Amino acid sequence: MTVLDAGCGLGDDAFRMAKLVIPGGRVVALDSSIVMIEKARLSGLAARLPVEFQAGDVRTLPFPDCSFSRCRIDRVLQHVPRPEEAVSELIRVLEPGGLLLAYDNDWETFTVESADRETARSLETFWRDSFTNSRIGRELAELLVSTGLSDVEIYPSTCLIKDFDTADKVYNLRETARRAAAEGIVSSDRARLWLEELLDRMVRGSFLAAHTAYTVVAGKKQVRTRCR
Ligand SMILES: C[S@@+](CC[C@H](N)C(=O)[O-])C[C@H]1O[C@@H](n2cnc3c(N)ncnc32)[C@H](O)[C@@H]1O
Repeated sequence: MTVLDAGCGLGDDAFRMAKLVIPGGRVVALDSSIVMIEKARLSGLAARLPVEFQAGDVRTLPFPDCSFSRCRIDRVLQHVPRPEEAVSELIRVLEPGGLLLAYDNDWETFTVESADRETARSLETFWRDSFTNSRIGRELAELLVSTGLSDVEIYPSTCLIKDFDTADKVYNLRETARRAAAEGIVSSDRARLWLEELLDRMVRGSFLAAHTAYTVVAGKKQVRTRCR
C-alpha cells in the first residue's frame, strides 16, 4: 500500500505505518511545519523505513490524483480553516476503492471537574475557542460524506485523565489559566484558586479531566470516479 499521513508532526505514526506496509509499500508523510519535517527526517528510523517526508499544506497537496491507497489525517483538521478543502484534496489523491481515516477531537466535550463551575466553564470555553474548529470531531462524518465519501464508520474514544501533570501536558491547564486571567476572562484570584483546587483533587485522588475524540473511516467509491 501507498499511504499518506497528512499533518504528520514528528512522524511517529508514519514510522509505525511504514512497518505495516513493508515489503513493497511506502508512506508519504506531509506537514506544513518545515521544522517538524526536518526533525522527522533526522530520526534514525527515516533511513531504515520507506517513509518520505515532505513539507506542504493539506489543502493543496503536491501529489497527482489517485496516488494513495490509504489517507490518514490525525488531529490536524481541528487547526485548519475551511477543513472541507483539506478533505477534498485527500479524496482527490485517494485511489477509487481507497479509504480515508480521520481522527479528531470534539472539544465541546472537554471537561475539567471543579466545584467552581463558573470558572471551570469559562476556562473550558477559553480552551475550546483556542481551536479553529472546536467541534470537528463530531463533524467528521458529515464532512466526509458531504465531500463525496461513503460507507462511513465512526468510533468514539474518550480520553480520561486522572493525573494533573498529564492533564497539564495535554490541555495546558496552567497556561490556559494564566492566559485567560491575562485576557480578563477570569480574575487572577479565581484562576489561582481553580488550579489549587485541581492540585488538591489530584492529592485526594479525585482529579478528573476528559474529552471525546472520534475516528471516522470512509471509502472512495469505485464507480463514477475517474482518475486524471
Ligand atoms: C496536533 S499535531 C498532530 C500531529 C500528528 N498527526 C500526530 O497525531 O501526532 C497537528 C499537526 O498538523 C500540522 N498542520 C496544521 N495545519 C496543517 C496544514 N494546513 N497542512 C498540513 N499540516 C498541518 C501541524 O504542523 C502539526 O504538526
